[in-house]
Amino acid sequence: MDLEDQKRQVAEHAVQFIEPHLKAESIVGVGTGTTANYFIDALAAIKHKFDGAVSSSVASETRLKSHGIPVYDLNGVADVGFYVDGADESNHRLELIKGRGGALTREKIVASVAETFICIADASKLVDILGAFPLPVEVIPMARSAVARQLVALGGRPVYREGYVTDNGNVILDVHDFVIEDPCTMEARINNIVGVVTNGLFALRPADVLILGGPDAVTTRRAADAR
Ligand code: A5P
Repeated sequence: MDLEDQKRQVAEHAVQFIEPHLKAESIVGVGTGTTANYFIDALAAIKHKFDGAVSSSVASETRLKSHGIPVYDLNGVADVGFYVDGADESNHRLELIKGRGGALTREKIVASVAETFICIADASKLVDILGAFPLPVEVIPMARSAVARQLVALGGRPVYREGYVTDNGNVILDVHDFVIEDPCTMEARINNIVGVVTNGLFALRPADVLILGGPDAVTTRRAADAR
């Protein structure tokens, strides 16, 4: 299976994973990106089995609605049973780097309220140590240079994602050269920089389940097994 087939397969597995748990009133949290798009398309086939979705981006909201899946404002939703999303990197503890698509803040919000966070990814995303993929950091525009200097002080090499504005009206710094051996500490430290909205480390709230593609088969790993 090539990487595109793997994305499609893990998305379909995620639908099979959640389907038995869905009720008429269930709300599904939906992520952003190419793998999440396959999930949305597969989810459409069982849209009669749940109430609707909360979305982590305008792009995913548009795709969900195009399939006739109702999209709710998170403020009006009490429970999100499952949140399903892709990742740019996952380590073996299911701590992630996310945000290549720029939706990291809304993704982190939906992940934070979900009972079960399922990450779906092709095999290229599994790494031993996070950081080869540049870490996206969403920043309030006026703080861009000040935050960049702090990220340099932490050992990173921030690159401004030029011409890109997040759904929240902010900018992204992609930070290269981090070797992230302690993701929880790094996530908290970067979030503490004034002007940072959030960063793309999902370690304080990692995924609970990783559905990972492979050349021959899809495997399912649980964070609990890695502890
Ligand atoms: C969106 O902001 C990201 O967090 C994506 O979920 C992540 O980049 C994975 O995207 P792909 O599924 O397109 O690789």
